[in-house]
Amino acid sequence: MLSLLLSLTVATIASPTLVVSYDLVRDYSGQTFFDGWDFFGSWDNLTLGDVWWLNRNDAFKQRLVYVNDAQRAVLKVDNVSDVPFNEKRASIRITTQEAYSVGSLWILDAVHLPFGCSVWPAFWTKGTGEWPDTGEIDIMEGINLMTSNQMALHTLPGCTHTTPPNQMGITRENDCSEPSGCVVAETSPDSLGAPFAAAGGGVWAVQFDVAGVFMWFWSRANIPPSVIQATSTSPMDVSQWGPPSASYPSTSCNITQFFSAQNIVLDITLCGSWAGLPEQYTPACGSSGPTGICYNDNVVGPGARFDDAFFEINYLRAYTTGGVAPTPSAAPTAIGTALIVDGAATITATTNVQLTPTPVSRPNGGVPSDDDKPAGEVPNASIAQPLQIPKISVLASLTALLLIALSSVTIVRL
Ligand SMILES: *[C@@H]1O[C@H](CO)[C@@H](O)[C@H](O)[C@H]1NC(C)=O
Ligand SMILES: *[C@@H]1O[C@H](CO)[C@@H](O)[C@H](O)[C@H]1NC(C)=O
Ligand SMILES: *[C@@H]1O[C@H](CO)[C@@H](O)[C@H](O)[C@H]1NC(C)=O
Ligand SMILES: *[C@@H]1O[C@H](CO)[C@@H](O)[C@H](O)[C@H]1NC(C)=O
Repeated sequence: MLSLLLSLTVATIASPTLVVSYDLVRDYSGQTFFDGWDFFGSWDNLTLGDVWWLNRNDAFKQRLVYVNDAQRAVLKVDNVSDVPFNEKRASIRITTQEAYSVGSLWILDAVHLPFGCSVWPAFWTKGTGEWPDTGEIDIMEGINLMTSNQMALHTLPGCTHTTPPNQMGITRENDCSEPSGCVVAETSPDSLGAPFAAAGGGVWAVQFDVAGVFMWFWSRANIPPSVIQATSTSPMDVSQWGPPSASYPSTSCNITQFFSAQNIVLDITLCGSWAGLPEQYTPACGSSGPTGICYNDNVVGPGARFDDAFFEINYLRAYTTGGVAPTPSAAPTAIGTALIVDGAATITATTNVQLTPTPVSRPNGGVPSDDDKPAGEVPNASIAQPLQIPKISVLASLTALLLIALSSVTIVRL
């Protein structure tokens, strides 16, 4: 507590004039959490995981999404069904219907994140257009038994990460157009998995700004007062947050050039092109089942392995900058202006943000785990998916045919 107070004092002294206030534009929480999201309703054709992401109707009917007695939103993998060989397991992927433009701030408060062998959860955003032309921001992502989060941006070539002195995380890759994206590893402990839950969860905040993309993570005990005191309607003052975990200043990445407005995504997949890669899966989980293969030892069979494969979320909130309430406008305006694209309606808010996160020392510097080598969101049909065959309904797709071809190869090899 003393060190937290000291940090806050230093932050105040270092930047007395950089108070930036954000106005709430959307609160996803409680009974209305699941309003305003699209459910994927198809197989995982993005990371080739062994899941079927349910549509809205089935997701509620099979209780893979619900609001629990504590008024928290739960999103989970099916941990009840006995999945036959060659079939996928049901899971959830939801995307906000609203896209939030440069000038936004997003805050997620969760008490539990999905984890376990084969499990690959993510909290991320993607541009409204082509991938990766309109950008992707990976805020929380982990696989298998990782206990340290990693963050990344994915863009076209030309956006790179210059590590500023006030970034708390460790830079792992500078080129945001690499398959891994420009990765920063979290150093604060308890940012994923069982340790995250044991610490009572935590909060992520992402500032998506003309000045750059800045991501903070606080374990429950370290959440700053402005976030603790916030309500589902109040504005947010970010001036005393201290340095971010990942800091991508616009000096080497023109944010408005590489990012469109972003939709926010929450999903859980299984195995696939990162968690299921033998070089990732085997060291962490290879001995957790009889075959050492991600799909065979986890997805197939009873669901009890997925008892911890769930998000439990207090809220997700979206804000815009400027201290001015959003007002309707006919068209998107210039750089430095926040807008929310919501179907037909476009709302803009004036802004003058140039927030520079202030350098202070964070208590509890930790070290990231060794198993957090990144993999991109690039669908890679050439990655072997052991014994995974899509259902008849998707046989027409070229990707599906490729998968089948590869499955046969794998079966022969076995
Ligand atoms: C994945 O499937 C969805 C839903 O069927 C479809 O809209 C999308 O275009 C597909 N993406 C790829 C990369 O094939
Ligand atoms: C950043 O990109 C925007 C949109 O493409 C462009 O208008 C602006 O001039 C660029 N800024 C710099 C500093 O290159
Ligand atoms: C499945 O997971 C939930 C937590 O999401 C847990 O409450 C339940 O006991 C688990 N097992 C079964 C069989 O539902
Ligand atoms: C796709 O898979 C192939 C074969 O495993 C690999 O050489 C290539 O690097 C992968 N590409 C990406 C973008 O991951």
